Amino acid sequence: MEQLLKVLPTSKNIHPDINVLKAIYRQSLEDPESFWRKMAEELFWYEKNGPAYDPLPEPPYAAWFSHWKTNISYNALDRHVDSWRKNKVAYYWEGENGERQTLTYYDLYKEVNRFASLLKDIGIKKGDRITIYLPMVPELPISMLAAVRIGAIHSVVFGGFAAYALAERINDSQSKVVVTADGTFRRGRLFDVKRVVDEALKHTTTVEKVLVIKRANNNVNMIEDRDYWYHELVSFSDSYVEPERLDGIHPSFILYTSGTTGKPKGVTHGTGGYMVWANFTQRVVFDINDKDIYWCTADIGWITGHTYVVYGPLLTGATSFLYEGAPDFPQPDRWWSMIERYGITILYTSPTAIRMHMKNGEEWAKKHNISCLRILGTVGEPINPEAWNWYYKHIGNEKAPIVDTWWQTETGGIMISPQPGLALVPLKPGSATFPLPGVDADVYTEDGRSARPDEKGLLVIKKPWPGTLITLWGNPERFKRSYYSRFPGVYYTGDFAVKDEDGYFWLLGRADEVLKVAGHRIGTIELEDALISHPAVAESAVIGKSDPVKMQVPIAFVVLRPGYSPSPQLRIELINHIRETIGPIAAPQTIYFVSKLPKTRSGKIMRRIIGAVVEEKSIGDTTTLEDETSVEEARRAYEELKLEMERGIGVEA
Ligand code: WTA
Repeated sequence: MEQLLKVLPTSKNIHPDINVLKAIYRQSLEDPESFWRKMAEELFWYEKNGPAYDPLPEPPYAAWFSHWKTNISYNALDRHVDSWRKNKVAYYWEGENGERQTLTYYDLYKEVNRFASLLKDIGIKKGDRITIYLPMVPELPISMLAAVRIGAIHSVVFGGFAAYALAERINDSQSKVVVTADGTFRRGRLFDVKRVVDEALKHTTTVEKVLVIKRANNNVNMIEDRDYWYHELVSFSDSYVEPERLDGIHPSFILYTSGTTGKPKGVTHGTGGYMVWANFTQRVVFDINDKDIYWCTADIGWITGHTYVVYGPLLTGATSFLYEGAPDFPQPDRWWSMIERYGITILYTSPTAIRMHMKNGEEWAKKHNISCLRILGTVGEPINPEAWNWYYKHIGNEKAPIVDTWWQTETGGIMISPQPGLALVPLKPGSATFPLPGVDADVYTEDGRSARPDEKGLLVIKKPWPGTLITLWGNPERFKRSYYSRFPGVYYTGDFAVKDEDGYFWLLGRADEVLKVAGHRIGTIELEDALISHPAVAESAVIGKSDPVKMQVPIAFVVLRPGYSPSPQLRIELINHIRETIGPIAAPQTIYFVSKLPKTRSGKIMRRIIGAVVEEKSIGDTTTLEDETSVEEARRAYEELKLEMERGIGVEA
């Protein structure tokens, strides 16, 4: 803890007065109406009727800009095209095998209009859903912006998800159109993207058209009257599309994420509040300006990519870098060579990526001049002080502050983080420091009182903030239950946290059944359901095991049905089954075949016991035992499971 609390000096070029920060923070919570009205006025609105902040009697307890009218695509594109930024670069793009493309704001504007026009031509209207399943190519942000331009709702599905997961998301959102590509390249290998879509569409009924972007030139199967090459259709479309004038609370997108049941949650974001939040947080956290070349390495298929590859940077008129490919291909210095080549000044990535580069060694970074970097960021998981210090020393050259940003798919944007765009506080490696303006964060004990300094508890947000999700798609009851029932009236994050004596927040990982595997959010129950869908599996339990690079990896325990017996082949089959249903990102590292799972009397799987066995911790270390289980029963279950694993029924992947 001593090491954790080491306070680092702040960067010299950044405003060091933390009283500025405190005053802004206080003001934002005391008078949200005038604070957010002022922040919103940086952006363009067709109409500003009624309040910016409209309290509601039920969750999320406020509607933001409900009667104001705007369009995110107008703000991200037309506004800049009407200014000196018209020919400023919006994206530098690079493919894994070195192809390059540069898109100015004007280029992007034209492409988005063409895409939007095509969507209209094929019958897409305001409120319709379109699913986007694309690699990291410029057409991904282009199709998202085209959708929001006409008021259609996009649902981007991460390319690492497989057919079943894709079908489930298409069905839940009832998408009419799927936008995809023929293929992509990863570590030099061709990946057939369209084949996944073909497989998924065998299990959907709502999709009328598939638009296919030509990217890899691989052979694909085109189904007549359903599948169309984008480049062939788009040439028939008109170029300018008038942006829809949308209410602040019009849903702009759905992004599916994992919760504590098998079915993914359709996190739905609005228009006005989300836009203001993306713009505000991009500026406050990254201190971004027109001289910066900014790179957020996240895939657009996750929320970090939505807000900090697409909307935040474009709203602020920034120049970003976009890369399609693996971080260590063809060599471990790929990232550092691109940072040097483009003169990247702000790098935003995940602790997993940092640990991977750390494992490869700093000599790869030393081959390049990366002194252009002035701000470094991390997101997605807690960052261990060792990785923090490595990043600070070897990548930031002990000059660039690290913004450790805590937030969630649901929060729309960064919630707790250092804020060099306002004032930089002294940093403590491993702490996300303080909440942003508008974020009334606190740590609660299990029984709902504010925890004392250094007392571990659950992170909550006590007041509505503009970036909040507006609902879960098609399931308002689940929305209330998931976020507002644990502590009535207060947003429950599902994360453990502590606040130290100085008021710094330390985020300590999930308090529920959600895993973070290499920064990807995966539900254990989703994996268990997928395993049970295999004919050999009677029961399963999945838990996360600590991993030095990926933070967690899924470990599965499986009880087989009569007639099946454990074998290496069956293990491979089950792992492939997960790869082909949910996707490669969710593949368990190990599968243990056991004769039964440890359960409580009422049949609940004793996850903490399984966790203790897997982590080789003594049972005394498991903080709380499961409800209704005596210490005696827990100990017996623990010993039995350990014995089974030692007997070698477990088969390592
Ligand atoms: C975790 C990602 C510690 C946390 C933007 C949260 C973090 C979950 C941090 C949301 C951080 C995110 N420090 N933990 N800086 N950032 N998390 O929805 O457990 O993919 O609840 O959004 O990631 O994951 P999601």
